[in-house]
Amino acid sequence: MSDVLFPAGFAWGTATASYQIEGAVKEGGRSPSIWDTFSHLPGRVAGGDHGDVADDHYNRYREDVALLADLGVTHYRFSLAWPRLQPAGRGGLNPDGVDFYSRLVDELLAHDIQPWVTLYHWDLPQDLEDAGGWPARDTAYRFADYAAAVHRRLHDRIRYWTTMNEPWCSAFLGYASGVHAPGRTEPAAALAAAHHLMLGHGLGVQAMRAADPDASYGITLNLTPTVPATDSPADVDAARRVDAVSNRIFLDPILRGRYPEDLRADVEAVSDLGFVQDGDEIVTGTPLDVLGVNYYFRAAVSADEGSLRYEGAPSAWVGSEDVRQVGTGLPVTDMGWEIDPTGLYDVLTGLARDYDPIPLYVTENGAAYPDVVSPDGAVHDHERIAFLDGHFRAAARAIDDGVDLRGYFVWSLLDNFEWAYGYAKRFGLVHVDYDTQVRTPKDSALWFAEVTRRNGLRG
Ligand code: NOJ
Repeated sequence: MSDVLFPAGFAWGTATASYQIEGAVKEGGRSPSIWDTFSHLPGRVAGGDHGDVADDHYNRYREDVALLADLGVTHYRFSLAWPRLQPAGRGGLNPDGVDFYSRLVDELLAHDIQPWVTLYHWDLPQDLEDAGGWPARDTAYRFADYAAAVHRRLHDRIRYWTTMNEPWCSAFLGYASGVHAPGRTEPAAALAAAHHLMLGHGLGVQAMRAADPDASYGITLNLTPTVPATDSPADVDAARRVDAVSNRIFLDPILRGRYPEDLRADVEAVSDLGFVQDGDEIVTGTPLDVLGVNYYFRAAVSADEGSLRYEGAPSAWVGSEDVRQVGTGLPVTDMGWEIDPTGLYDVLTGLARDYDPIPLYVTENGAAYPDVVSPDGAVHDHERIAFLDGHFRAAARAIDDGVDLRGYFVWSLLDNFEWAYGYAKRFGLVHVDYDTQVRTPKDSALWFAEVTRRNGLRG
């Protein structure tokens, strides 16, 4: 293998999310979010885990920023907890919440690390869910108000603003399959939720850009390249439908300002998309400065009876409940996700081919492995190094082939609360002992520090 160098100024970072790391759920005036409620319901999260303490990052952020500095990253992607900043989901901001993020931002800047914030990474204030949640149109307006208020307070020091993280998960895991908070299984409501997430996104960008046109505004989508398991017409059509309800349902309204026609037909039996009002698609299509891409795996699908990624749960693929995901024999991570770096190459080049030019960032990519601290005190996570090496090379290949990729964030800085899987799945470059909160940089952290230092990979 040959040396690989990334373009000068390439952004290297790690990513986290508030509910997954902060803990301190009752400190500083924070209100409950849908994940507090959901994770405390019996049987919803593996091991009965919840985010009450998590990585205690709220109290240990200085130590965590020092770890980031050791990695040599130029950027750090984290999310702001809406229930910390605006506990009721409406009205004035909570000064303690603003103060926490303000201190975190100062700490990052003092280490020469650019903050890259996500305004919504799934922790909706419970009060807003009680008022209808994302299926209710008003939640989009609430989000835009929240975005504008937070931006007013912090935009002097934050140049990178992402509205939503993976709205697909919020909408379809939250309201269709129900494996994520708030755990509802109402397919028509999931489609409405997807729309209102995009509407909130567009309104939020408009409000923030009006206040500060020079900052960078974007959204992060989880994009899953979808291929038919066989070349049978049924499987080929299944792949088209899943692509529509997973990827193009967001890409088209956001980057083209209109829903895909085939999607409208596919979901007809569930919903006529009557919640899409005149002018909405102009809002969802508000021009952006960047698109964030989260990539984990490719999906091979087959038209068949049964459910999809979560056995026994109702399908997240609304309108394609007859489709299931099948294995292709590739090695898998601890999540059971197939390792396929060429899927990342395909996503990046596909975006460049199918949509108008827009700067891209990989805002998440990484792998869970059952890491343990060895008797020598280190964590020898060679599989994670191989995983990242393969994916970095795929990204470099995409750049060579003309893709405007500007940066790459590894998921995640720390082991953390992996949603419905709890703490059992470890994605961190840094190991966390949940009994003691001791952080141990894994071998992958040392390797990644070398990557950021040379802005590339050795052959
Ligand atoms: C995507 C999500 O944004 C993040 O919260 C999650 O932990 C990772 N993927 C891994 O599943």
